[in-house]
Amino acid sequence: MFPTKVKNIQRLLQFRNTAWCSPSLGRAAYSRLVLGIETSCDDTGAAVLDETGHILGESLHSQTEVHLRSGGIIPPVAQQLHREHIERVVHEALERGNVDPCQLSAVAATVKPGMALSLGIGLEFSRKFVRQHNKPFIPIHHMEAHALTVRMLQPVPFPFLVLLVSGGHSLLAVARGVDDFLVLGHSLDVAPGDALDKVARRLSLVKHPQCSTLSGGQAIELLAKDGDRTSIALTTPMGKINDCCFSFTGLRNQVTMIIKKKEEEEGVEEGALLSCVNDIAAATQHTVATHLAKRTHRAILFCKANNLLTSSNPTLVVSGGVASNQYIRKALTVITEREGVSLLCPPAKFCTDNGVMIAWNGVERMREEKGILPPNVDVCYEPKAPLGVDMTAEVRAAGIRLPSVKITIPN
Ligand code: KG4
Ligand code: ZN
Repeated sequence: MFPTKVKNIQRLLQFRNTAWCSPSLGRAAYSRLVLGIETSCDDTGAAVLDETGHILGESLHSQTEVHLRSGGIIPPVAQQLHREHIERVVHEALERGNVDPCQLSAVAATVKPGMALSLGIGLEFSRKFVRQHNKPFIPIHHMEAHALTVRMLQPVPFPFLVLLVSGGHSLLAVARGVDDFLVLGHSLDVAPGDALDKVARRLSLVKHPQCSTLSGGQAIELLAKDGDRTSIALTTPMGKINDCCFSFTGLRNQVTMIIKKKEEEEGVEEGALLSCVNDIAAATQHTVATHLAKRTHRAILFCKANNLLTSSNPTLVVSGGVASNQYIRKALTVITEREGVSLLCPPAKFCTDNGVMIAWNGVERMREEKGILPPNVDVCYEPKAPLGVDMTAEVRAAGIRLPSVKITIPN
């Protein structure tokens, strides 16, 4: 290339960079913007992102406190709360980013999987919004969004292994592209967050002075810090089954039996706070962490045996609400360090449900021109929607035995 041409290009790039950062022009001047809307469960979230993953504005309305008081999520109550808050939340995200709807390049919204009544509100609002402003619509798979959020924060090339653990989901998958996933394992019953929420409820942790506003998982993590996990014996689920699937119902039953026994010993009724609540929390958290770590270990070994990850820098991404648990992260670190795998966890605020992850998934799809629909197209929500190709039978057939690894984590 001629030196003058190089100089011209350099000057042009310099101008672009200056203009990009200039407050008077704003970033919006050169980057396509996506509005993301999330209502799959009990959080109403919205965010506006540019193509680089810069968050221009975001807003989140959490229903956790309401559901804690009623002892669980009641779908029509969640629906009503989404209905009451969605307009304000979307408006706030746009306003905080100083973005007018006409500046948006697309609107992305969660359409699957999730609670039907909750999904319906987000979809209804988004469809009206895209028609009104004549914008393309990008339907989003909630779990894909959790899996890809990490790429908004740092460059993580495909393929990578991802562990998604939340209140509604529990799965291990290889992410090979924006819409290309191989599922290695999933929960055979409930998700870990659901089990933790139910244990917390059975322990009446909402009555605990430190836990009244925390989700079940958060309460268990907090109380476990002052507990002795070894004083309560729990068995790690599925020890004899050499696949990557999960199960948490049996563990929940084990904990319930122990709670009943302790109530008898302490002479208190169900609903009272037990004196050994910290120990129960610590043992439950440790068993969940060990179960997740073992299944993930087998998934890593399966990926290695089948060349499913890059050999130069194999990566495990952990996301979803339960991934914000520091003890669980440490348990996974024991495995990843042993296997020479990098462990990446988005910060807690990006692990739980939010509008940012939906907007980012919209950005990823917009960049690759995948799944972008015109404003007037009919889209239905899907409460149940698998993620990618099911490989669980192949994993089970491989029957990989795990080496013995001690998971010891100081509190
Ligand atoms: O991803 P998320 O916000 O919503 C979905 O379920 O999709 O995850 C919420 C779940 C709840 O079950 C909550 O108890 C759990 O994540 N959770 C935690 C922690 N923070 C939230 N579980 C364990 N430790 C935590 N620190
Ligand atoms: Zn989620």
